[in-house]
Amino acid sequence: MAREPEWIDVGAAAELAKHSCQPMKVRRADIALSYRDGVFGAIANTCNHVGGPLGEGTLDEAGFIRCPWHGWKFDRCTGKGEPGFEDDCVPAFPVKVEKGRVLVDLANPTRRMKKPHAPHSLSREPVRAPGPLRLAGISTTVMDAAHPRFSGSDHLLDCALAEGRRLGAETKRITLNNLKFRACEGYFSKSYYACTWPCSITQMDPTDQMDQVYETLVFWADAVIVATPIRWGSASSLYFKMVERLNCAQVDISRNEKLLIRNKVAAFIVVGGQDNIQAVAGSMLGFFAELGFLFPQFPYIAHSRGWSHEDMENNVRIVRESKSLAEGAAALAGRCLDLAGKLVEAEAIQPPVTSGGRKGRPIMEEETVDPD
Ligand code: FES
Repeated sequence: MAREPEWIDVGAAAELAKHSCQPMKVRRADIALSYRDGVFGAIANTCNHVGGPLGEGTLDEAGFIRCPWHGWKFDRCTGKGEPGFEDDCVPAFPVKVEKGRVLVDLANPTRRMKKPHAPHSLSREPVRAPGPLRLAGISTTVMDAAHPRFSGSDHLLDCALAEGRRLGAETKRITLNNLKFRACEGYFSKSYYACTWPCSITQMDPTDQMDQVYETLVFWADAVIVATPIRWGSASSLYFKMVERLNCAQVDISRNEKLLIRNKVAAFIVVGGQDNIQAVAGSMLGFFAELGFLFPQFPYIAHSRGWSHEDMENNVRIVRESKSLAEGAAALAGRCLDLAGKLVEAEAIQPPVTSGGRKGRPIMEEETVDPD
């Protein structure tokens, strides 16, 4: 039943009509005020998904406001979702124009309704499935897949995985070069709440194959070895493309106190013709530590010949023929599985680790804007 209207003057129509869509605080309500073809609309500013500010979105041809975070759409006047999702609606407020002023009735909004959306499979609890230890290898080198070349980092990764199998572990190799996945599009830069777990891109784009990395790191592996070449003093571009897409897993720690990576081990293989091994390994260690991984003693092996060695064909030959590097990779796998085995055993008696570390804390209370 309609209540006594509470018409609030929100401004001059001529002024407000200059913006197709804008956020507005009207007493206790946050609204998205829109204008097109002589008609104003007012709906709640908070998106049904994870709270994006609809008033900062854009108006499409059909009269839907597109949320600036992940693109959910709501009719600018009725608040209803786009076709097929009409029941997923945000509150809509009556609006009228009198004597050149826009008035919004705060007392009679329609009801917000959220249509259940099937959760993404990556939303499930990260519980370790029983079975032998599992060692994953992630190759990050870039090459022409149709005409592959010898890669020193891949070669040593294969040595490590072969040792894992010899030690009785299941192994899996992910070759980033073979996956089609989008670069991170900066949802975190829109808002702390816009960078979601599972990744916003993964939820929106079923063709994106980064889910294979998430599945492996979060659910499958007890230990992971990441191998990279050195490119101009840094890890490979594919490594960074993967790492940026893993930001959502790190954010989930501080936002939801949810540690996706628990009792898992990471180690690294770094191979370059020239130098900067410590910086590359340090950067990798730092990021994987923030995800919650633990490290064996001596968590990386590496090889380079130094700044003045540009004879890469010799470097390739050296890595390919080096018995000690192959043994080093195998020993790295052994250290990983040794620690992983202890962690898997301890899991049964240890309570879950809650978030820790400076970056793993919730953001300060006064900075928090709860979208609900
Ligand atoms: S689409 Fe609006 S918050 Fe995600």
